[in-house]
Amino acid sequence: MSEKMWAGRFSANTDERVNDFNSSIRFDCRMYEQDIKGSIVHARMLARQGIISQKDAAEIERGLLSVMEDIKSGALAFDPSAEDIHMFVEAELTRRIGDAGKRLHTARSRNDQVAVDLKMYLRQEAGALAKLVLELEDTAVNIAKKHTRTVMPGYTHLQRAQPITFAHHMCAYAEMFLRDVKKLINAMDNMDECPLGSCALAGTTYKTDRVYTAKELGFDRPCGNSLDGVSDRDFVIELTAVISLIMMHLSRLSEEIILWCSWEFKFVELDDAYATGSSIMPQKKNPDVSELIRGKTGRVYGDLMALLTMMKGLPLAYDKDMQEDKEAVFDALDTVKMCLITVIPMLQTMKVNEENMANAGKKGFINATDMADYLVRKGMPFRTAYKITGTLVARCVKEGIGLEEMPLEEMKKECELFDGDVYKAIDLMTCVTRRETDGGPAPEAVEREIAALEKRAAVMKEKVK
Ligand code: ARG
Repeated sequence: MSEKMWAGRFSANTDERVNDFNSSIRFDCRMYEQDIKGSIVHARMLARQGIISQKDAAEIERGLLSVMEDIKSGALAFDPSAEDIHMFVEAELTRRIGDAGKRLHTARSRNDQVAVDLKMYLRQEAGALAKLVLELEDTAVNIAKKHTRTVMPGYTHLQRAQPITFAHHMCAYAEMFLRDVKKLINAMDNMDECPLGSCALAGTTYKTDRVYTAKELGFDRPCGNSLDGVSDRDFVIELTAVISLIMMHLSRLSEEIILWCSWEFKFVELDDAYATGSSIMPQKKNPDVSELIRGKTGRVYGDLMALLTMMKGLPLAYDKDMQEDKEAVFDALDTVKMCLITVIPMLQTMKVNEENMANAGKKGFINATDMADYLVRKGMPFRTAYKITGTLVARCVKEGIGLEEMPLEEMKKECELFDGDVYKAIDLMTCVTRRETDGGPAPEAVEREIAALEKRAAVMKEKVK
């Protein structure tokens, strides 16, 4: 094991177990590009401010670029005994260029270094994630386009309620996913303050230029307070909270797909490539992907809870507890990405059983509200119409028929206002078509919604390009 950077202060070596316990390189190594980029800009700033020489800065930059190249090509492996990525890169730089490398950490601390690295990494990841969610939203919209006239029952309490279309149902998810993208963009916007230059906690005695480093690293401005700069992990929590919402939306969709795949529904059939069999029951085709997404949602909520709990009692400024932020947010990111890249093709290849949806619509009296509305249009107060329809539903239940199967004379026994046109009025397609208010299930209304979704998605696509 190489000598510790802080060896001067210590007379004994770190216990091997403490070393392993303390080390974060196995998970923070994924931020190597951000770490190197941050160091290059920091070195340039030091030279601009006359804190180190131009020559040293140039050597540092060359050295750092060669480290980056070798990590990328695989020529340089991460040393598992290094404390973290920051120590690893600095040690490797010094090994390569000698004394100039030892000047890099002037006017900097790992506390502001880790904060800036993580913020840059998460902002980039949030952008990539937004693109994936936009792809999912697009998938939902494309399915919707094919099913604006595919009638199905809409549910409340998982009881058949009123007729909608499969397009309307898919667009509901598209709305959720667009909100998710908006939140990701917002979280990225909130990551606009650069912690670099906060140093350990109290800034520095050197005349650094924090505006320069902030701008060069793609931030809007330096953060306003050095204590806050190194203590703040709101951006980690905010992103994990948005990821939790994405998972919640994915989980609700998964739950529906699981239901829809069951023999009780059979509204959809998954492509064989996205389903699995049973080791004992030869007839089984299981929606494992959806179940796993539903299951992994709990794990991501766990990451969010871990972060919130880890932060809640920490005195300012940096505490080592904060090293725990990375595994949690990385796990949330990896999980949601894995879910998205699997669920998108699963949805794209999923077959929709329009007939079964229509048949399910025929049962459960989902046109009862429309029958009441029919009487209202003939001048009856809604409450009275509601009661008469309820009586007819009860009679139909007893006879095992649908409202549309009840003879007109029977209807007339309950109310004189019924006429031959009632059958057209309670036809499911009529019920759907009449619901043409904005956001409703009528084909024209859904087509308007789709156009609006596409417009909003295009604006967001531009933002995360
Ligand atoms: N590996 C640490 C982390 O992930 C970097 C910061 C360490 N700073 C310190 N003073 N120990 O948070």
